[in-house]
Amino acid sequence: MERLLITNAKALVGVRPQGMCEVPGRSMAELPSITDAWLLIEDGRIGALGPMSELHSGTRDHQVIDASGRYVLPGWCDPHTHTVHAASREEEFVYKIKGMSYQEIAARGGGILNSANTLRRMSADELFEKAKARLDRMMAQGTVAVEIKSGYGLSLESELKMLRVVKRLKEALPLRVKATLLAAHALPVEFKDDRKGYLDLIVNELIPQVHREGLADHVDVFCETNYFTVDEMERVLEAGAAHGLSGKVHVNQFTSIGGIQAAMKYNALSVDHLEVMTEEDLDALTRAGTRGRAPIPTLLPSCSFFLRIPYGPARQLMDRDLPVALATDLNPGTTPSGNMNFVLSLACIQGRMLPEEAINAMTLNSAAAMDLSNELGSLTVGKRASLIITKEIPSLAYLPYAFGDDHIDTVLIDGTPVRSGAVVG
Ligand code: NIG
Ligand code: FE
Repeated sequence: MERLLITNAKALVGVRPQGMCEVPGRSMAELPSITDAWLLIEDGRIGALGPMSELHSGTRDHQVIDASGRYVLPGWCDPHTHTVHAASREEEFVYKIKGMSYQEIAARGGGILNSANTLRRMSADELFEKAKARLDRMMAQGTVAVEIKSGYGLSLESELKMLRVVKRLKEALPLRVKATLLAAHALPVEFKDDRKGYLDLIVNELIPQVHREGLADHVDVFCETNYFTVDEMERVLEAGAAHGLSGKVHVNQFTSIGGIQAAMKYNALSVDHLEVMTEEDLDALTRAGTRGRAPIPTLLPSCSFFLRIPYGPARQLMDRDLPVALATDLNPGTTPSGNMNFVLSLACIQGRMLPEEAINAMTLNSAAAMDLSNELGSLTVGKRASLIITKEIPSLAYLPYAFGDDHIDTVLIDGTPVRSGAVVG
């Protein structure tokens, strides 16, 4: 058996009992930790942990990491990204600086359709290499699990091409990857006068084919004014559910049109964005939460930052005891960053989440938002040893506080370093 022992950690952060799969909002300020502690990794899993005063076993056959002055945390889980894309879109970034809105740029043929044009022309191999490079960077920044959406293909062939690339990434890289079919991301030009035709294609051809090939875990729809209506989203979610794909949907980014209520009818796993929320939206989620059936509200603060739009109402959601999750939304149009450490700082600085709340939101709750909280998201015996070891820092709050700097020393995925810092000899 391969054994790795981490000793003298300033604290093990996010130590949770087995079987706990999410942190309800009102408990998110609690982040159970053990100070001056050790953690034993056995065959890539967390084997045991405890305070140094209780470390009695001989360590001769163990490789030892001395984590003095450092925190050990569960690695970040990023449950909403568009990591597979062909090219950046910084020309739109400049238009936005000059005052144009995201919607105006899209109306001129920019936006998602711009990305679809470039992606359709790019080979699967090139898409794979580009996405792999992004994921290598994200792992070095502490991300140990990621959800990746299609949605820049917008045709049978190109959506399948994207999801096959995601499948290759899943096989080639050590981090956990979940795949989401987002064919209903924008109406492709070929169908601009035939919305129903495109929906028929998604429901009658794409979803069954994706199911046959086992290419996706979830289905997504950009439910938004000028994109897809609530009825259209319901059609896609219904077809997805019939093929075992649970919903993870883009709702309430720019307008509130009833997407949350509709997603709940189909037991969506998560509702993402939520920058524009009415009292009715919050009440609907709260009622479902009381019955233990609410989708996980997933906030994307770096998207708000980049587009200068409101931040999702983290405090209101937590006050209603909902298990808020955080994600990057990495994509070329609204969030060209896959850095969860920046999300942590923004969630605290702009979203007024406490450091403990934000860390819960990007570990256990974000694992739950991709159906992985049985294997990731906390320091729990039996879970994957996918961990962050920080540099020597004065306190846990220093992580979000000293924004923009890199506080990570080492990242382990299933017990193996994907980034080796000072503690790994
Ligand atoms: O999550 N809002 C829809 N989808 C992406 C943006 C896609 C794009 O602009 O390329 C988002 O923000
Ligand atoms: Fe998104």
